Amino acid sequence: MKWSVSTASLADIRADLIVYPVFRKDDAADLGALLKDAGGPPPARHRGKGAGHPDLAGIITAAGFTGAVGKTLPVHCGGVKAGWFLLVGMGKADDCGLQDIRKAAAAAARQARGMKAAQVAVRASALKPAGFDDAALSRCWHEGAEMALSPVGELKSGKKEPRTPRAWTLLADGCSASDLRAGLKEGQALTSGCLFARELVNLPPNLLTPALLAARARAMARREGLKCRVLGVPELKKMKMGGLLGVGQGSAHPPRMIVLEYRGSRSARAPKFAFVGKGVTFDSGGISLKPSANMDEMKADMAGAAGVLGAAVAVARLKLPVNLQVVVPTAENMPDGGAIKPADVLTMANGKTVEVLNTDAEGRLILADGLWYAGRGKPDFLFDMATLTGACVVALGKHFAGAMGNSGEMITALEQAGGETFERVWPLPLVDEHKEIMKGTWADLQNIGGGREGGALTAAAFLSAFVDDETSWTHLDIAGPAYQAKGGGINPAGGTGFGARLLARTVQILAG
Ligand code: BES
Ligand code: MN
Ligand code: ZN
Repeated sequence: MKWSVSTASLADIRADLIVYPVFRKDDAADLGALLKDAGGPPPARHRGKGAGHPDLAGIITAAGFTGAVGKTLPVHCGGVKAGWFLLVGMGKADDCGLQDIRKAAAAAARQARGMKAAQVAVRASALKPAGFDDAALSRCWHEGAEMALSPVGELKSGKKEPRTPRAWTLLADGCSASDLRAGLKEGQALTSGCLFARELVNLPPNLLTPALLAARARAMARREGLKCRVLGVPELKKMKMGGLLGVGQGSAHPPRMIVLEYRGSRSARAPKFAFVGKGVTFDSGGISLKPSANMDEMKADMAGAAGVLGAAVAVARLKLPVNLQVVVPTAENMPDGGAIKPADVLTMANGKTVEVLNTDAEGRLILADGLWYAGRGKPDFLFDMATLTGACVVALGKHFAGAMGNSGEMITALEQAGGETFERVWPLPLVDEHKEIMKGTWADLQNIGGGREGGALTAAAFLSAFVDDETSWTHLDIAGPAYQAKGGGINPAGGTGFGARLLARTVQILAG
């Protein structure tokens, strides 16, 4: 969709639909400004009689529109060229948060698509009472609309509907046009990262093998001006990446390691970031085979990879003055005759040995080699993101990622960023007792803890063996928020793109 800011007046704007955010006052919609904009309240002597111009306030009240968050009401009106207002509820101005702006934009976008409106204008200044700066308004509006209409069903063979709306215009009237433009630019960077991540997560596993994921990452790197290197099996063998090779060895589609570099600064003092993302393109469980129910959702087991790649898109488009390496170990976890078995011992790239007790605990095996690889560059901040454990979903549900590591500074930044982007994280403990549990009987480590207790925490404890103590590191377990079977809010069903906006914003905060 195309986005612009216009200083044209509300009455003259060319659009099929003018989206008009409306706050709620007590239990009714606050219609004061709206009625003025629509050509003033109807003359008192005609009110409710159908004469003169229509009784807008009466129509709105009769329709039961109270300005509740995300509720919409199209009303036909004179006084503006567009002829149509789409009222969208914002809730009470005092309670309005950034996510409410996204939700309202999402609702408006879906409604505009339903009405086949090709050109939509938004009365941005109507959002003023919420008290956000103008850039935040336009950024969040952009995010909400783009995310709500992010493409799905691309693989259906039927005739494609044209994508509507095609163009959005924010009416600057009362807002700073340059701040609105700046916010749109930020929004564009963040949403393109998120949508790129979603597209990858939604692809079926036959169309997104490790090699195909690498090809998509390479194409993205070319578009965004990043360096890209893809390590194939011979190179993985040279580097002795026993974890990644082990997980990939039961599949007809061999593993890869994708490495991207973004150089946003030539200064030696610029902070160095590294992201590692779990890229299991399909997780059948391997020989420790998963039950069939919902196994299809394991196409999303590369959502960590998608999130870090999406974050790289956003960081590059925001031109953040940092240097960033993105490392994606990618494999398909399958149970063929060559697959790893429970009791196998793997030697990882850092030389540590790991006893595989459950082949379904594969994410940590490939991340171990990814973390080791990223750690060699001595990053100031090392993040890994992974759909790592069902235990994390049990602990935190679908709306929070678990955050574990050794850096309070990183967790604080993530919490702030997540509050803003609404990709919320919750800190979980990383302690020696759990590291102890992960020590092996036959090898240095084993890949699962004893029982089911604290599964997200023992997984993080395992990963810590592959990060050196001096490196500031945070592990994000996104098994819950990465994917939703049903659509809702600003997300259609499928991949949410979780983490792309979050990590980009976190980098911005830590670099600031
Ligand atoms: N990819 C799964 C984790 C997962 C579960 C992601 C549900 C998204 C939704 C991971 O590879 C896995 O299988 N983990 C096991 C670990 C166990 C064997 C220690 C799990 O969570 O059951
Ligand atoms: Mn698994
Ligand atoms: Zn997995």
